[in-house]
Amino acid sequence: MNNKIKKQLAHDIFTVFANTPLDFEKIQKLLEKPKDPSMGQLSLPVFLLAKELKKAPPAIATEYASKISDIKINYLQSCESVSGFINFKFTSEFLMLELQGLLGQEAMGYGDQGHGKRLVIDYSSPNVAKPMNIGHLRATVIGQAIRNLAASQGFEVIGLNHLGDWGVQFGKLAWAYQQWKSEYDFEKAPFKSLFDMYVRFHDEAENNPEYDEHGAATFRKLEAGDPEVTDLWKMFVEISLKEYQHLWDRLGVKHDLVRGESFYSDQLEGTVQKIKDQGLLKLSQGAYVVEVGEDVPPCLITKSDGASLYATRDLASAIYRHDVLKCDVNLYVVGVDQTLHFNQVFKVLELMGYEWAKDCHHISFGMYRFKNIGKMSTRKGRAIFLEDVLNKSVELAKEIIQEKNPDLKAKDIVAEQVGVGAIIFNDLINDRVRDVDFDWDRILDFEGDSGPYIQYSAVRCKSVLRKYKSQHNISDTDFEQHMSKFDVSEVELETEELNLCSLLLGYSQILTDSYDKFKPSILASYVLDVARTYNGFYNKLRILNADQPSDIEKRIYLTYSANKVLSEGLRMLNIQTPEEM
Ligand code: ARG
Repeated sequence: MNNKIKKQLAHDIFTVFANTPLDFEKIQKLLEKPKDPSMGQLSLPVFLLAKELKKAPPAIATEYASKISDIKINYLQSCESVSGFINFKFTSEFLMLELQGLLGQEAMGYGDQGHGKRLVIDYSSPNVAKPMNIGHLRATVIGQAIRNLAASQGFEVIGLNHLGDWGVQFGKLAWAYQQWKSEYDFEKAPFKSLFDMYVRFHDEAENNPEYDEHGAATFRKLEAGDPEVTDLWKMFVEISLKEYQHLWDRLGVKHDLVRGESFYSDQLEGTVQKIKDQGLLKLSQGAYVVEVGEDVPPCLITKSDGASLYATRDLASAIYRHDVLKCDVNLYVVGVDQTLHFNQVFKVLELMGYEWAKDCHHISFGMYRFKNIGKMSTRKGRAIFLEDVLNKSVELAKEIIQEKNPDLKAKDIVAEQVGVGAIIFNDLINDRVRDVDFDWDRILDFEGDSGPYIQYSAVRCKSVLRKYKSQHNISDTDFEQHMSKFDVSEVELETEELNLCSLLLGYSQILTDSYDKFKPSILASYVLDVARTYNGFYNKLRILNADQPSDIEKRIYLTYSANKVLSEGLRMLNIQTPEEM
């Protein structure tokens, strides 16, 4: 069910409650899905009225259910009271008509809260010369999903890659390269060489403190625009972006702009000056800071040697996003470990007098917890690299597919869709603020709460539709036409059909709720619910060989609708739907 239908019902019944504390808005808020779907599609609890009317809720419900029945609302099949609730059953025709309306919309069920507004979303944003790790997976898939959700609400979205491409580590890397380049194979394995060099620098620096000095000096050269060091830095960025692009392609991630930290180099002085002009800059142990409140440590703006920091670059970047990109909403999809950082940055912006600081949001997320990591080796024993996780998942998916469906064509393509989809879904099904359990058995459980289970359900719909089309010798385009002309009058829905239909009607509402809370998990668990409900329908009812031709048509229409919602929902979550699996 969705708010549109709730609103309509509330509008049509609120006069019955005149002289009680239940007004139009309250009724709309109170209308909920009954726990037991056989009770109807919406339910209104009346406990709130007990005190005022000095009656027991069951008696109130009975009285008002009968009053509502008396006004004869044409889209209601019945309105009955059960222990303090008024339960509403809608006519099948009304529900099917609503479903038709939802599917008929150009972009299914899209909201309009973002019309005329621009939204910047910063996501994935890895650090040059370092492999994307499993933590970046969250920043990547949650970010891309929220990006899709924002677009569904009508926002003009700019996906931004705030690449970690500036800081003293690039001086270190450039110096390391100058010393050791001949020992690495940059032709064959550029990114690996870069990372190995980075690790080696840090290992050796422990016993060679002068390394850090070399690194710092080389970074100063980079800052001063030294051509040789600048060329090296450019090469590092290029090698890294190429490596990440490969992963972004696999995950279906698209940024519109790369605005790495280096991009703000020439805006830092101006930013610090603005802070100074506001009288906010304080000298503290040789460094410049802004005090942001009693419970929060001060925000470091420049180090004692004058060098800028991560926060300085984020301040410049926020101003750029507002002043140049002209964004109305500015989102940062970054782990919970950077909460303090964003609190400080947003607070400094507020103190600088930017009223738009309130439109900046840190979309934080929890960390991964590993269960049976045994199935995956880790390089260096510490970080878990995203690429290894994806490869492993695809490999496992392939084994399962091989076993379940040995004759499947294009196994490699399907294994990639299923393996990658499984990893994405396992991430997104979790409320982002919580930590995520990483458990291979669950991630790839084709019968469990998993990505493959949903993909499998969509594939099941597609296979039913394919059979129908071939039985009726109908082309894909003709089939779409045929479905859009489905006649809803005189349709009677059985329990499983009713459940499916009223669940599907909630799709557009779910997109809005999911965006409003910046929680793709709301959409993910809805899609799971649709898959489960469709499977219940499929197992209980005969579809292609139903007795009545009208039942076949009706169930095909519901299968067609379920397939649309499943495929669209998965697309929003950036998960692909195979044709067969
Ligand atoms: N590069 C950072 C990291 O990987 C994330 C950057 C997030 N965005 C930002 N504007 N600070 O940890």
